[in-house]
Amino acid sequence: MCGIIGYTGSSQALPVLVQGIRLLSYRGYDSAGVAIWQDGSLRIRKDKGRIEDLAPRWSPDELAGTTGIGHTRWATHGVPNQVNAHPQHDDGETVAVVHNGIIENDLALREALEADGVPLVSDTDTEVFAHLFARAFDGDPVAAARHLLEACHGAFALAIQHAAMPDTIIAVRRGSPLLVGVGVRENLVASDLRPLVGRADAVIDLGEDQIAIVTPDDVRLFDADGAEITAERRPIDHSERDIGKDGYPHFMLKEIHEQPDRIYELVASRIDPKHQRVRLEDVGITDEQWRAFDRVDLIGCGTAFHACLYGAYVLEGLAGIPSRALMAHEYDARKPHLDERVLAIAVSQSGETMDTKIAIQSAVDGGAHTLGVLNVRESVIGRTVNGVLDIHAGPEVAVASTKVYTQMLCGLLLLALRGAQARGTGDGLLAEIAPALKRLPDDVRTVLGRFDRVREAARDVRRAGDMLFLGRGFDAGTALEGALKMKEISYIHAEGYPAGEMKHGPIALVSREVPTVAIATSGPTRERMIGNVREVRARDGEIILVATDGDGDAEKLADFVLWVPEVHPLVAPVVNVVPLQLLSYETARLRGCDVDQPRNLAKTVTVQ
Ligand code: M6R
Repeated sequence: MCGIIGYTGSSQALPVLVQGIRLLSYRGYDSAGVAIWQDGSLRIRKDKGRIEDLAPRWSPDELAGTTGIGHTRWATHGVPNQVNAHPQHDDGETVAVVHNGIIENDLALREALEADGVPLVSDTDTEVFAHLFARAFDGDPVAAARHLLEACHGAFALAIQHAAMPDTIIAVRRGSPLLVGVGVRENLVASDLRPLVGRADAVIDLGEDQIAIVTPDDVRLFDADGAEITAERRPIDHSERDIGKDGYPHFMLKEIHEQPDRIYELVASRIDPKHQRVRLEDVGITDEQWRAFDRVDLIGCGTAFHACLYGAYVLEGLAGIPSRALMAHEYDARKPHLDERVLAIAVSQSGETMDTKIAIQSAVDGGAHTLGVLNVRESVIGRTVNGVLDIHAGPEVAVASTKVYTQMLCGLLLLALRGAQARGTGDGLLAEIAPALKRLPDDVRTVLGRFDRVREAARDVRRAGDMLFLGRGFDAGTALEGALKMKEISYIHAEGYPAGEMKHGPIALVSREVPTVAIATSGPTRERMIGNVREVRARDGEIILVATDGDGDAEKLADFVLWVPEVHPLVAPVVNVVPLQLLSYETARLRGCDVDQPRNLAKTVTVQ
C-alpha cells in the first residue's frame, strides 16, 4: 500500500527520495511524487506511473534542495492520476503532505472547507490535511499538527513540509506506522524500515498520536497534548538491513530459498532438546491461562488466513482446544462471543493489515487474551495484542508471501506444542515431533533442489486458463495457498479446495484444459486423496501430483509428479507448499509477469 519517505540533511534530497520510492515500491503503487524545499517555496512533482518513468522527468536543477518528502500512492480515494498523486498541497502551495491511511470524516471536513471558500482540487482525503495544516499554522508546527489530530478521525501517518520551515519535516502518526531514521547530520522519515537502511543508524518508532519535528541535527517528539517527550532510539539490527536480491533474479525466488535457514533459526531457538520443552516464555501465556482457554480464534487474511487453517488443526488436535480459522474481514460480522477464556490470535506478516487490526482490536475490546503471530513485532498489531510470537522470517519484499507462510506454520505448530505441554495433552509429542522439526530445513532444501522437475510442469501449465488445487486435512490450506500463489502472480485463474468438496461442485470444471494440482503425500489422508485423483483422471483431467518419494502409484496416476521427501504428517504442509511456490513462480516468469510486484496488489493492505 502507500509508502512515505522524507529526508532532511546536507545532501541533495531528490536522489534520496527517488531511491526511497524505489525501495518502497514493493508495497504496490500506481503513482508517486516528491516535494522539495527550494528558495523559499515547495517544488512539487508527481504523477501516475512507475518511478522508472517518473524520475527522469524530475529535473535535479528545478528540485535542488536538501529537505523533501516523497510518496508511493495506491489509489483508494480517487483514480490514479497527477492531481490525486501525493504530495497534496494547499491552494498557495505553502504546505505539502504525504499520507498513508484514511481520514474517516473527510467528507464532513471537505464540506466545511468548501463552505469556507477553500478550493479542493483532488478527490483525495489527503488534501484536507494540507488545507487544515495551512490554516492552523501560525509559526508553531506542533500546534498545527495537534489541530490535525483533533480534527481528523481514522488512521494516518503523515509527513508534512511548510514553505516557512526550510529544513523541517513534521511527522504525525495515528494508527499507521511511521519511523524517524536517525543518521549523521541528517534524519529521515519513512513508513517502514527499508528506505532507511544504509542511511540511518537508529530509528525512533513514533507512538500513537505522536508528533515529531525533524531537522538535520535534531528530532523532537511531542504527545497529543503538545508536551515534549523523550524519543527512544533503537539500533537497526543486522537482519533488518538484509534487503538485496543476493544474485536471485527476483525477491520471490530469493525468499523461497531462504526458507530452510529461517525455519532452522526459528525452531532451534524455540525447542529445548535437553528438557524436551518448547520455549515460548516471551509470548506471555502462562500454563494456567493455557488450561483455562476454551476456544482459539485464529484471524488473518490471504496467505495468513491459510496459515490460520493449519493453526486451527494443530491447536485443536494437539492442545485439545476448540479452534477456528476466521477471515479477519468477517470477524466482526459474526459478533463472536468473547471473554478471557478465548485466545484470539492475529496472524500477519506485516502486522499492519487493517482488517486484521480491526478484528484483533474487537477481540481486545471483548476481553479475549490476544496474541500476534507476526513478522514485524514493532507493528500496529504488535502494539495492540497482549503478546507476540515473532516468526523471524526477515524482511519479505515480494508481494507474494512465501517464507513468511512456512514460518507462520512453524510458529503455529510450536504454539500448539506449547499449549499441549501446558494442558498435559502432549505426552511424548515433542519427542516424536522434535526430530521431524530438526530435519525440516534439510527436507525443504531437498525440494528446492528439485526445481528442474517443477520447471517442466510449469512449461506445461503456463498456457492454462484455469487450474484446480486439491488437498485434505493439514494440506487443505496448502491447496488454497497453492491456488492463491498461482493466481496472484501468474494471473491464471486458480481455485483451491479441500478435496472432499470436489464432488459437491468443482468436479464439473475438470477437463484436459484445466490442470489439477493434487497434494497426496503419505499420511492419513493419502488414500482419500488418491480417490479424488482417480476421479479427475477418469474425466481426462491433467494431474500434477505432489507425492512422497517411493510412492509406487504416483507415476501411473499423474502427468507430472513433484516428489517430496517422507516427513511427519504434522510438518508435511511446510514441505508440500514449496513445490507449489516454485510452480507459481516459474509459471509467472514464463508468462512474462511481474513476479515481485503483481498488478493490482499491494504488499500490505492498510485499508479495509
Ligand atoms: O501482512 P499480512 O500477512 O497481514 O497480509 C495478509 C495478506 O494480504 C497477504 O498474505 C496476501 O494474501 C499475500 N499477497 C499473499 O501472497
